[in-house]
Amino acid sequence: MSESVIDVNHLTHTYTDGFQALDDVNLHCGVGVFGLLGPNGAGKSTLMRILCTLIRPTGGEVRMAGHDVTRDPMAVRAILGYLPQEFGAWRNHRVQEVLDTLAQLSGMLDRRDRRERVAEVLDQVGLSEVVNRKIKKLSGGMLRRLGVAQALVHEPRIIIVDEPTVGLDPEERIRFRNVISDLGRDRTILLSTHIVADLGGACREVALLDQGHIIFQSSPADLIREAAGHVFEISVDEQTMDSVENEYDVVSSTVDGGRVKLRCVATSGHLPDGASPIAEPTLEESYMAYMAARGRSAAALEDNTVDKVSAGEVA
Ligand SMILES: Nc1ncnc2c1ncn2[C@@H]1O[C@H](COP(=O)(O)OP(=O)(O)OP(=O)(O)O)[C@@H](O)[C@H]1O
Ligand SMILES: [Mg+2]
Repeated sequence: MSESVIDVNHLTHTYTDGFQALDDVNLHCGVGVFGLLGPNGAGKSTLMRILCTLIRPTGGEVRMAGHDVTRDPMAVRAILGYLPQEFGAWRNHRVQEVLDTLAQLSGMLDRRDRRERVAEVLDQVGLSEVVNRKIKKLSGGMLRRLGVAQALVHEPRIIIVDEPTVGLDPEERIRFRNVISDLGRDRTILLSTHIVADLGGACREVALLDQGHIIFQSSPADLIREAAGHVFEISVDEQTMDSVENEYDVVSSTVDGGRVKLRCVATSGHLPDGASPIAEPTLEESYMAYMAARGRSAAALEDNTVDKVSAGEVA
């Protein structure tokens, strides 16, 4: 294992109202793409804001490339790119202007260098055509790409991205995934998401956060191995469909003639009659199986995602 770039030790955070959002979190990330998964309210954004020096933790230690986030926040900011969950305070400004200002805030003080770099990054994320468009006129996908551009503009060693793909269409999600996996070759990227499939094969490790605790950190392959035997496929008619749906978390369904083929997650080792276990579940199914085993239903994980999109959290 290569040297840790993000080093989180015994981190706790209690908000001023007394709510403890993080409890003894330990997380270590080297070079590569790392996924942070967890249901709504797990503490993902809290953790990411602490790593980015936006919140001062109430306990524990965080080092970013050796710099302590509390003692030396300026050094951390200089090597860090952050894509926040929301990106909307700039409605009436133009794309180029926003990126130029944010680059300046990240410490790029030379105007000529900055102009060149801004143009280069806008091209990299595919926004060259809209450099003079106002932020309020960008699509959801363009806004996310602008977010990526501002996180990259000063060529940081570490990139922290909170819920990058909410509200993106499939094409934009693929594009985003490719940009991230390119960048992850020689730097550290920590990505939080609900959409597990978006982590894709580029991800070196996944960490699962639940109610302020890291409950798993290992390779995607290990998570999939954990889930083997808990994910199954079953072909049902309308009558049996209800009983399966009541007892198991359904991950997907496909209509197959007069019957329906369900892929489901079992919370215990017990599978219904006629079920065939899936030897190699997807990462998403494996995540659901892992959470289901802890009493977190797939429905709860999914409903929240839908709420979030409809609540317009994209921008
Ligand atoms: N400023 C705050 N004061 C008090 N509690 C807060 C504050 N911000 C967040 N919380 C609480 O801390 C917990 C963790 O929130 P956080 O935003 O970190 O979760 P999350 O994993 O990012 O969730 P989501 O998937 O919805 O983005 C939640 O219960 C939330 O209500
Ligand atoms: Mg969040």
